[in-house]
Amino acid sequence: QTIAAIVPAAGVGSRMQHSMPKQYIILAGKTILEHTLAKLAQLTQLSKIVVAVSDNDPFYQNIGFIDVKIIRTVGGKERADSVLNGLLALSDNPPDWVLVHDAARPLVAIDDIENLIAQCTHANEGGILASKVKDTIKRGNTHSEQTVPRDDLWQALTPQLFKYHELKAALEGALQQGVTITDEASAIEWANKPVKLIAGRSDNIKITTPEDLDLAHFLLQKQHS
Ligand code: C5P
Repeated sequence: QTIAAIVPAAGVGSRMQHSMPKQYIILAGKTILEHTLAKLAQLTQLSKIVVAVSDNDPFYQNIGFIDVKIIRTVGGKERADSVLNGLLALSDNPPDWVLVHDAARPLVAIDDIENLIAQCTHANEGGILASKVKDTIKRGNTHSEQTVPRDDLWQALTPQLFKYHELKAALEGALQQGVTITDEASAIEWANKPVKLIAGRSDNIKITTPEDLDLAHFLLQKQHS
């Protein structure tokens, strides 16, 4: 079974309030994107790694060489458009599976990715890394109106692994119908296909706000020591 990776890296990262998109912020000596790509490059199962970056991105060309398997494509308006462009970049020789991983999640553990791949390919079903919600969750705007039972609540992480053709059809269909898609699994759910939940480490954080940077820096240094 062939597997290619897609790394959406075309976001502007407005919640980071930084002068450059968050994937290019330097942590522990390298950009966040380089940390993420270096992790994926360790997976010998991947045939290709497609990175979707903005059309007018001036930063990508300056990142260090990581692996011959990496190819660049252009991102789109929303994350789902960037992933779809990544799928199109593989259409000449489509892999059986695609592993989509956020550029902004450099802390992912290799053994979690290997576990996701093993479980999904064995079950022949797509799936995602996720972690069980730990906090008490409230619904409301200015005041809490409800406490949401958390027994069956998960936080969706990445990577997310799906069959190439299934993901392409689901993303195209969901985008066409204007469905809100914040991850690949939401498009697959819309298409009524199964999404396995595979428990992964909760420190696989998506670097989003300035508070995340110190934590990510600490965790990256710990992984490299
Ligand atoms: O904005 P958010 O943190 O949800 O972005 C998740 C990932 O999707 C990031 O790696 C970001 O660069 C990417 N993205 C993209 N194209 C967009 C928006 C976000 O590739 N249009």
